[in-house]
Amino acid sequence: MLNGKTIIVGVTGGIAAYKACELVSRLKKQNADVWVVMTREATKLIGPITLRTLSGNPVVTDLFADELAGLPVPHIALAQKADIIIIAPCTANIIGKIAGGIADDALTTIVMASTARKLIAPAMNCEMWRNPLVQKNVNELRVAGHEFIGPEAGKLACGVEDIGKMSKPRAIVKQAIKLLAGDVEGSTPDLHGKRVLITAGGTREAIDPVRFIGNRSSGKMGYALAEAAQKRGADVTLVSGPTALAAPDGVTVIKVEDAKGMHEAVLANRPGQNIIIMAAAVADYRPTITYWQKLKKESDTIKLELSKTVDILADLGRLKNGTRLIGFAAETNDHIENAKTKMSEKNLDLIVVNDASAIEQDSSEIKIIDKQGKIEEHPELSKRESADRILDAVLRL
Ligand SMILES: Cc1cc2nc3c(=O)[nH]c(=O)nc-3n(C[C@H](O)[C@H](O)[C@H](O)COP(=O)(O)O)c2cc1C
Repeated sequence: MLNGKTIIVGVTGGIAAYKACELVSRLKKQNADVWVVMTREATKLIGPITLRTLSGNPVVTDLFADELAGLPVPHIALAQKADIIIIAPCTANIIGKIAGGIADDALTTIVMASTARKLIAPAMNCEMWRNPLVQKNVNELRVAGHEFIGPEAGKLACGVEDIGKMSKPRAIVKQAIKLLAGDVEGSTPDLHGKRVLITAGGTREAIDPVRFIGNRSSGKMGYALAEAAQKRGADVTLVSGPTALAAPDGVTVIKVEDAKGMHEAVLANRPGQNIIIMAAAVADYRPTITYWQKLKKESDTIKLELSKTVDILADLGRLKNGTRLIGFAAETNDHIENAKTKMSEKNLDLIVVNDASAIEQDSSEIKIIDKQGKIEEHPELSKRESADRILDAVLRL
């Protein structure tokens, strides 16, 4: 699928540098002409010879190296012939350098000299990623047209479970194919350049180490929305409660457990989002006390005191600054009335209402209500089809 395409893979000094091997080999399998450019720090983490062997081309590590494979000024020749530059893993340092217009090594010079598309796969410690300066640089690069994939949540090299992992090489290749095609087969890229944050699934509020208060949400609606938005060209972040569903390719997934975790993940990822769709079924109440040891079956009855959880949607409604905010209402009665109340209380732009019986199902009958009270009714559709109808309505806002 990448026949005739020249791809520069920038490898920087992150612990995930070894994953560049799989990325290069996957790109080669797609018949791309792959050139690897490494920073000095990257060469300390992985040997250029490995990447030279996998790519079949010399590896650029030095801006001032002598003539390279018949290219007299390698950085300019490569910058001009590239169809896409993928930087994976990309350190906080390189993000900062590119955003700051610095070109003091082979990679940043090539990036600056190239008009090719740029796809950046950041990988770093969670606090580095959350650092406001890093986020500011990321936003500046996005505005300048650089595409980002990831980072994702998972077990980081420093041992913590948090955001910062490089996206999977398979997902990066898929995203590169999509960017080079300029479109996704069979879909309209009408969300291209838009950042969309979607929540999905239910939350689990711990009672003790083995028990929780949960709900029946399967995550199907949120995952369908994430897939639809990604296919329509959006840069999608999916904050997901526990579910058995596989994450759609190319989507950044942040896994959370409870309402508090979802609140933190959503607020941390809120800046820079154009659209936020809250499809998750977040618990309204959690046990006031979480027991650290498993409760024993002793007395005939036990009392469980519950406290209100944080209201994510209300916080988003208060903070919203140009972001389109879409909520969901799963109701058993007075559907429209309840949904309209929720919409005005939470300062939403749209609310999607369905019957609570649609939870766990593959299809649903949805109504989309806007601020003016206009109701768009859809017959029973698969959740994937409903997702497209919802995105159509968001785009009409
Ligand atoms: C073992 C090790 C692992 C590192 N992993 C990362 C990382 O994953 N992400 C990151 O941004 N920096 C990481 N660093 C720090 C960078 O290597 C450092 O900021 C360096 O200046 C980056 O150089 P470069 O961006 O030119 O490749 C790591 C450093 C060491 C020693």
